[in-house]
This record gives sequence, structure tokens and C-alpha cells, in this order.
Amino acid sequence: MANKRITTAAIRQMKKDGQPVVMITAYDYPWAKMFDAAGADIILVGDSLGNVVLGYDSTLPVTMEDMLHHAKAVCRGVERAMVVVDMPFMSYQVSAKDALRSAGRLMKESGAQAVKLEGGRESLAAVRAIVAAGIPVVAHIGLTPQSVYQLGGFKVQGKDGAAAGRLLEDATQLAEAGAFAVVLECVPSALAALISERIPVPTIGIGAGAGCDGQVLVYHDMLGLFNGGFKPKFVKRYKNLYAEVMEGVGQYVDEVRSRRFPSDEYSFPIDQEILEKLY
Ligand code: KIV
Repeated sequence: MANKRITTAAIRQMKKDGQPVVMITAYDYPWAKMFDAAGADIILVGDSLGNVVLGYDSTLPVTMEDMLHHAKAVCRGVERAMVVVDMPFMSYQVSAKDALRSAGRLMKESGAQAVKLEGGRESLAAVRAIVAAGIPVVAHIGLTPQSVYQLGGFKVQGKDGAAAGRLLEDATQLAEAGAFAVVLECVPSALAALISERIPVPTIGIGAGAGCDGQVLVYHDMLGLFNGGFKPKFVKRYKNLYAEVMEGVGQYVDEVRSRRFPSDEYSFPIDQEILEKLY
């Protein structure tokens, strides 16, 4: 059935079948609807919302209300893909109880099918509590943007022996705790490939090379919605929508100022007799 909803079982099966999992972010109805129609398996309402939609310089200020508002819009646009919603900063770090309450609220109010949270061994209790309540969890390790100040910036993680071993151990424990997929962000390719081989659940890479079981990108990056600025090495720009928008809106600005828009083609007529009676 073409429109059957993608489930956690289907995602796990994709790893067994060697079929890559395609994940992409979305934050509102029209983009979510397009990405669903384009065939994405998972649509992530990422807390990258803070950076690419709300204009913050990190994900830390993003609230539960922000996530809910955007996740609801995304869910209204998606029929086939699984919708995963990010748990915002401080909605799961204080205690497992807090984590469960936050995850429950996101699921109940948004209509998403799973939640994602950041962190390795420090997040195990939260993952266990959420999974025990029947809520599917995607884990996220490596470069975890909610810890950007502790990590000292947006840097590749797991480059020395201790850090690499820690990531492998964290991924293993997260899978054992019940996470049905693990996002690996900015991890050396060979290490991500090793983790992918060792754990039974799919890894979804962003800046983690081709050895992962799936890939995720933030659509603003891959579709070139921002002009210039910093482009991470791992981002492939499939389109330059910034240039398209500037051309289209630039033309609109010119045509309104020069009164070329709206022409008759874009206007409504009225019977001349009716109009004359008004004069
Ligand atoms: O918030 C987000 O968009 C993410 C992806 C980068 C994985 O967590």
C-alpha cells in the first residue's frame, strides 16, 4: 500500500535489508507535505528549528511550546513518513520522570510517532523510561547541539581513542535501552561505519559518512535557503533556493513599483454599466 505509515518495525527491517533510511527535517505543513510526497522515510521536527526558523544562534532557547506548535503543523502534512519530534533542551535532562512527562506531552499533543533526544550514557535512564511507556525513541550522539557550549563549538566528535570508544559504548547502550535508531552527528566515517556494524538498530548519519544505515540533512542547508555564510563540509547543496527566491521576489518588487503588476490577467472585471451608475 503506497500510503501505509512507516513504522519502527519497518525502519529496523530496512537495516536488515540494507536499504538506506532517508530522514529530512521539516518545521511546517507545506514543506512536510512536499518531503512526504518526495518519499522521505522519516521527517524530523528538529530543534534546529531554533537556528533555521526562529533565528536563534543555538537550539537552547527552543521551548516545548515551540516544538509542539511546529510538530502539529508537520503532522497535518504527513501521511506516509514517520514523524519524529525533538525533545527541547531541559525537557528531559533533569530526571527520567521529567523526560517521560515531556515525551508524553509531545506525543499526545503533536500527533508525532516518536521522539528524539540527545546524549549517550547520561540519557539512558530517560530513554528507558520513555520506551517503557511505549513511546519510540531516536537517540542522538556525537555532536549534540544542545551541549554546544560544553563541547566548545561545532566540531567533529570521537577523534581520539577514548572519545571513539565512548561513542561506540554509548551507541551500544542506547540500543540496549530501547532506542530504535541512533543519529550520529559529525563522527569520523570509519568510526560511524564500525558503530553501524556493531549495533542492531539503524544509525542515521549527519556528517558521519556513507557507512551509516541512513542519512539526515536540515533542508535549509541542502536546498540553499541561506545565502553564503558557513556551509558545513558534510552538506551537499542540491538546490540554490536563495537565488530563486531573490530572483522571483526581486521581479515582484520591480513590477509593483513600475505598476506592471497586477495586469488585467491578474485582476477582476466589472460590468461597465454598473460602474457608471456609481459615478
Ligand atoms: O535538530 C535537528 O535538526 C537535528 C538533526 C541535525 C539531526 O537534530
